[in-house]
Amino acid sequence: MAAPLIRSARQSELDDLARLEVQAGELFHSVGLSAVADHVPDQQALSRSQRQGLVWVAEESERVAGYVVATVLDGNAHIEQVSVAPTHARRGIGRRLMAHLETWGRRNDRPATTLTTFRDVPWNGPYYRTLGYRELPGAEIGRELAAAMQHEASLPGMDACRRCAMIKYNRHPS
Ligand SMILES: CC(C)(COP(=O)(O)OP(=O)(O)OC[C@H]1O[C@@H](n2cnc3c(N)ncnc32)[C@H](O)[C@@H]1OP(=O)(O)O)[C@@H](O)C(=O)NCCC(=O)NCCS
Repeated sequence: MAAPLIRSARQSELDDLARLEVQAGELFHSVGLSAVADHVPDQQALSRSQRQGLVWVAEESERVAGYVVATVLDGNAHIEQVSVAPTHARRGIGRRLMAHLETWGRRNDRPATTLTTFRDVPWNGPYYRTLGYRELPGAEIGRELAAAMQHEASLPGMDACRRCAMIKYNRHPS
């Protein structure tokens, strides 16, 4: 299969992306995180990000297979969300979407890419480690990233003890 096309998301696709996020999130049932699986996507936030040009989709055979949402926190590119449809999982689409966001960050002179995730869920922390991310020690977590983690901890199923922030530098910090 040819590599998927990564392109900006269209406003008309946002309902489909929210549905895709729910389908992708169903994986969390398999590790006892049903409250996370049942999380309802924030479509207003998604729409805002799309208007800012910060949502990209992976398209394969004219179907959207996954998407990624960027923001900027503490001056770094930040992966707000990445989801791949279960029908297209484990074929490198998540990796390509994240690489696209990292490239966007580099082009915008962002020193690093960050994300927050479950440390111990196989397709979260361990997966991101394979992509070059490492856990950020608490003392190195910036103010905006810390605020995002605090907000996440208030959501159902987001046990703060199992959550972490991860970073991948575009160049080594001096
Ligand atoms: C995380 C996610 C985007 C990865 O997308 P993907 O296209 O399947 O990922 P890739 O093909 O690039 O990489 C596959 C690797 O991810 C990990 N992985 C993906 N799905 C997995 C699963 N069900 N069980 C265990 N590991 C899994 C494995 O390391 C896998 O490598 P392998 O197939 O060689 O074992 C996708 O699993 C997803 O949408 N998950 C639900 C939503 C989510 O957790 N988003 C991240 C929020 S922080």
